[in-house]
Amino acid sequence: MIRKYSVKELLNKEKFFIDKKVLVEGWIRSFRHSIFISLNDGSTIQNIQIILSNKLDKNIVKKITIGSSIRVIGIVKKSIGIKQYIELESVDITIYESVETKIIQKSILQPKKHSLEKLREQAHLRFRTNIFSCIMRIRHHIAFGIHKYFHKHGFFYIHTPIITTLNCEGTGKMFQITTMDLKKNKPIDYEKDFFKCKTYLSVSGQLEAETASLGLGKVYTFGPVFRAENSNTSRHLSEFWMIEPEIAFYHLEENINLAENFLKFIIKYIVDNSMEDLIFLNQCLEKWNQKKKNSLLEKLELILKFPFKKISYTEAIRILDQEEKKKKIRFLHPIIWGMDLQSEHEQYLVDKYFKIPVIIFDYPCSIKAFYMRMNHDGKTVRAMDILFPEIGEIIGGSQREERYDILLQRMKDTNTDKNKLWWYLDTRRFGSVPHSGFGLGFDRLVQFITGMNNIRDVIPFPRVPNNAEF
Ligand code: 4AD
Ligand code: MG
Repeated sequence: MIRKYSVKELLNKEKFFIDKKVLVEGWIRSFRHSIFISLNDGSTIQNIQIILSNKLDKNIVKKITIGSSIRVIGIVKKSIGIKQYIELESVDITIYESVETKIIQKSILQPKKHSLEKLREQAHLRFRTNIFSCIMRIRHHIAFGIHKYFHKHGFFYIHTPIITTLNCEGTGKMFQITTMDLKKNKPIDYEKDFFKCKTYLSVSGQLEAETASLGLGKVYTFGPVFRAENSNTSRHLSEFWMIEPEIAFYHLEENINLAENFLKFIIKYIVDNSMEDLIFLNQCLEKWNQKKKNSLLEKLELILKFPFKKISYTEAIRILDQEEKKKKIRFLHPIIWGMDLQSEHEQYLVDKYFKIPVIIFDYPCSIKAFYMRMNHDGKTVRAMDILFPEIGEIIGGSQREERYDILLQRMKDTNTDKNKLWWYLDTRRFGSVPHSGFGLGFDRLVQFITGMNNIRDVIPFPRVPNNAEF
């Protein structure tokens, strides 16, 4: 039996394989001079060069076209070419499927420059392009790094439900789910619906994660969440992935330190494990955005280099107000204490003023969710948002309100249905403790690390308003 290897395995141990007979499988990226095939199998950005044997059946040679899937048995040889150290001298080639040249010409597999929009239209094929396969490999490593970090720090991975009856964030629209024919069943009686009540796709697993943390200590969720906001921006998805750690006996300061430490670990992990793909993306970004050399790598290094800037919401408002008074900037939205910070304000603080990630804490209670812990001033809550260059808000979190009476009052004030949340309130009666957590937008982190301008280019099949194709 001849052993099968991935292209990555072969190229990682080039010297070891010289003169050995191996089997590789993949898709043809290019075919030159009727003799050189570049083969890629997705395991790495690099291709392996195959040298066709002159004994190969002419009918097989005819079928060797770009995009075709093949199996090659060959002998590894030291290459005479300068582009690669090894190549594979074919002994036997099997074509799984030969792609017709005229089909390829219409697809994004045709080796020429395609826009990212065009790639999105053929999302089922874009895994075969260098750019998208790079992003997907990095996306995998980020997810793996996240699990690694939490496992190392004693967290348990909790699967929270996707189907829910409540909107834990209180803002924005949710996707309703039902098995009823809403046209026929008027007036709508949700007692007759599948779950005997009105249900939705969840916007967050936090409330359930809180209950888990109040028994297991340190937990995290990592799953898809759904938001039906009509936001057509480069940073919003209708279906995205969120990581939500929740920690018992943690105060806001510990929560902030955890979030910073965690983000730095992930970025370091990618710099250490995905350099080949980062270098390729870096080159693409230089070409597209005419950015200076190594800008992506420098951007990532900058995150690791300095402590994040930590300021209160009140301090942020003071800075923005002063900058406007000094005529350094003119914002579209006027600066008033109590307002929700708009992206123009966040961008100014991060990209212009501090030039490093900024953590803003103690936001006005009027703009934050009911579950955040009230401060002594009665006006602000123990919230924290982490703002990143280019991306804006990447993390939102808080210390949770653990005091039963105050939580109940906040529910009343924010029109939150306490009957649906009886179990959540109950946790404040059975050994309640200070606890905190946060939510990291996974796709936004992938966007930041890969430097992509649009969040739709870092998730395999983006769901956004007006588009659920594939
Ligand atoms: O700030 P958010 O809404 O926080 C929560 O949902 C809390 N329950 C988290 C917690 O404390 N456990 O969302 C958290 C993060 C945001 O900071 C942002 O990075 C990301 O989720 N996010 C989105 N990412 C992509 N598309 C969207 N539509 C997003 N909305 C939020
Ligand atoms: Mg938020």
